[in-house]
Amino acid sequence: MKGKILEQLRKTDSVVSGEILSAALGLSRVSIWKHIQGLKERGYEIDATARGYRLVKSPDIPYAWEFPERCYRIHYVGQVDSTMKLARKMARKGAPAFTIVVADTQTQGRGRMKRVWRSEKGGLYFTLIIRPAVALIHSARINLYAAIILAGTLNKMFSIDARVKWPNDILVQEKKLAGLLTEMEAESDQVVFMNIGIGINVNNNPTPHEPSAVTLKKLMGHPVSRIELLSSFLDDFTAGFSMATSHEVIDRWKQSTVTLNRPVEVVTPRDVTRGVAVDIDENGGLMIQQPDGTIKTVVYGDCFHQELPGVAMNTGTGHKCSP
Ligand code: BTN
Repeated sequence: MKGKILEQLRKTDSVVSGEILSAALGLSRVSIWKHIQGLKERGYEIDATARGYRLVKSPDIPYAWEFPERCYRIHYVGQVDSTMKLARKMARKGAPAFTIVVADTQTQGRGRMKRVWRSEKGGLYFTLIIRPAVALIHSARINLYAAIILAGTLNKMFSIDARVKWPNDILVQEKKLAGLLTEMEAESDQVVFMNIGIGINVNNNPTPHEPSAVTLKKLMGHPVSRIELLSSFLDDFTAGFSMATSHEVIDRWKQSTVTLNRPVEVVTPRDVTRGVAVDIDENGGLMIQQPDGTIKTVVYGDCFHQELPGVAMNTGTGHKCSP
């Protein structure tokens, strides 16, 4: 109902009477008043006078009712330990595909390789539950798919040059704008659910200890709407989803990456591989040509771009802190 009230208020810049609202929504004027109070408590600035109600300002908070036309099931929480944890619980209990858990802040935000993902106010932190009918072996393509879609959405909305670092970090000018973390559960060789967690530096303020991070606010010179960003990403993600496990993802990823044809160091909990990233295989493994000429494919790990000979680079990419 809050969404419907907002829809009515957003049709005009001036006042909407309680009478009109109650006729349009089939609610008593007292009920309308209660919903308006509820909206005010959640940060909406609404002028309430004898003539009616006027929406002055909406907060940039991804409440479920801010996504009215979508079939997505948005679960907004102000604060959570980690959207990954909550989404996993929900997926295990049968939450349908395209359920989204989104939080303003996380107290135990997690990054890849067991790192902490600092999740202060202003960033966009969410986990998307999907249930792709796909064999485990092809599931890694969905990681790549999510990353290229996110880079595409960011580029389209903000006219920036966001690119993908293997496997699925989003960088702008070698600085990290967003990170993706995927978790899944499978039965025999079929994926049961896959949870894609995304953290985007939007209007948050990374600390001086995170020199390798950049925010959309910094790139654009002003704060940007997290609601519009989430909405646009979800639209793009679902529109192209039939491609998510196809070979096309591999080709598209190669077009959006900044990792190929450059020296890299890939660190896994077991070892470190150095060489030139020459390609990815059909499941997204990074193929590295080592100094002795042999090719080694790594399927998981942290990739650090190394300096290209003769090119002065921002070394931030290799920074191990998140975001
Ligand atoms: C990385 O680059 O290491 C991946 C970062 C993923 C962070 C997101 S924020 C939303 C979701 N919840 C988490 O705890 N982590 C992911």
